[in-house]
Amino acid sequence: MQITASDQTISEISADWLVLPVFESEPSPLEQAFDAAACNVIQRLRELGDVTGEQGEIVELRQVAGMKTPRVLLVGLGKADALTRAKLERICMTVFRRLSSKKNRSVAFTVPDVANVSAAQVAEIVATAAVVASSGQSVYKKKADRFSFDELSLATAGSDEATQQAIERGRILGESINLTRELVNRHPGEVTPKYFADRASELAAKLQVHGEVMDRHQLAQERMGALLAVSRGSTEEPRLVVLRYEGAGESAPWLALVGKGVTFDSGGLSLKPSDSMKSMKADMAGAATVLGAVNAIARLKLKVNIIAAMGLVENMVSGSSYKLGEVLTARSGTTIEIHNTDAEGRLVLADVLSYVVDEGVSQIIDLATLTGSCVVALGEEVTGVFTNNQPFCDQFSTAARAAGEDIWQLPMFESFRDQLKSDVADIKNVGTRWGGAITAAKFLEEFVADTPWIHLDIAGPAFAESTKPHREGGGTGAMLRTLVALAESL
Ligand code: BES
Ligand code: MN
Ligand code: ZN
Repeated sequence: MQITASDQTISEISADWLVLPVFESEPSPLEQAFDAAACNVIQRLRELGDVTGEQGEIVELRQVAGMKTPRVLLVGLGKADALTRAKLERICMTVFRRLSSKKNRSVAFTVPDVANVSAAQVAEIVATAAVVASSGQSVYKKKADRFSFDELSLATAGSDEATQQAIERGRILGESINLTRELVNRHPGEVTPKYFADRASELAAKLQVHGEVMDRHQLAQERMGALLAVSRGSTEEPRLVVLRYEGAGESAPWLALVGKGVTFDSGGLSLKPSDSMKSMKADMAGAATVLGAVNAIARLKLKVNIIAAMGLVENMVSGSSYKLGEVLTARSGTTIEIHNTDAEGRLVLADVLSYVVDEGVSQIIDLATLTGSCVVALGEEVTGVFTNNQPFCDQFSTAARAAGEDIWQLPMFESFRDQLKSDVADIKNVGTRWGGAITAAKFLEEFVADTPWIHLDIAGPAFAESTKPHREGGGTGAMLRTLVALAESL
């Protein structure tokens, strides 16, 4: 998709569709310019009550006199002073999803002045939405049901340097989110640890980022006893992918991004019921989000150093599955008694976390579809946040707000650590039924030493069970924007 900024006069724009945002309050200068060229058609429709500008309202017009474009889509933005970044994003997604459900070559989007969002930000949001919305989840269908545009022009945005840069940033974010979504949406017969690692290596070569893939033998040399135990029941061999992006010079601090990459979670011997198992191809969303974020950070050439580590395994049932009651020795030397083989994500992360700690990183963020309990607590669209370092977490929250993503911090009280006491080993891998997202985080905390660390439980927001007008079901790329915003703020 070619995305450009143009300052063409509204009546001169030629595209398959012209999108014109309409406010509930006073007609904007853009609307007035349109109406002046189009015999006041919007004013007349407003009088009829057919156009109100109410948020999310969509009215299609065709062959409007005075307009070169054959089709016009009016989209309501609601009251001007109540419009936020998140609302604008949702509206753009709805519009572009609607237009990309048919073959439309070109779209011109007239960019409104929004009180609470800068012009550059609006341009970025529009570009990201166009890229994300025009890509679906029908990876394997004979007939495509979503069509990307060849050209998108952001009309009347002016074509200054800042706008061009914002558009480029928007496109990079969109394409990175789509990469994450694609990896999550592909079926688990295809996305094995090896497949994921191969895709990551390919990407590293393309980005000219240093990449390393460890196989079962190297993982054994690294003493990753917890990760390897999870993988043991599967015929698919595990992988650890480590990418190093050096954007700030080697001696500057390194931020680790760690991703849970369980390419399929059957639960192991603590087998999941079918209903809970059927979306477990998405249990590698943490790793896919880390990979998408590295893609964005490298393409944006951000001045930070990132070590991205993705632990890739399948959690399966067989004669060689790890057992309940078994005691594992993690890479850090900590022994772990297994009380539930479905609490596998924390075992994989334990070894990957201690690996990045030993690499000497200054800060760690891990992303994982870790617990159903977090979804019970916060719902399907909010990321659970846990930390051992409040200032770092506050900085992260600021980035999330700037990126327009919803997060909520949960406590790390010592009483939850008590639930993990084991009679035979240093720690056991599950606590009681209650507060399971927190006990999981307390488990991870054992493996980060004193390194400032944030754990993101994305079990809810990483995967959408159903399609809505503003977003496709399947992988979502949640938290990728926030990671990029944080990397920018470092
Ligand atoms: N991958 C699941 C968590 C999950 C649940 C992700 C729902 C997305 C949607 C994880 O490995 C798991 O099974 N966790 C268990 C932990 C329990 C056994 C302590 C859970 O949440 O039930
Ligand atoms: Mn599990
Ligand atoms: Zn899992």
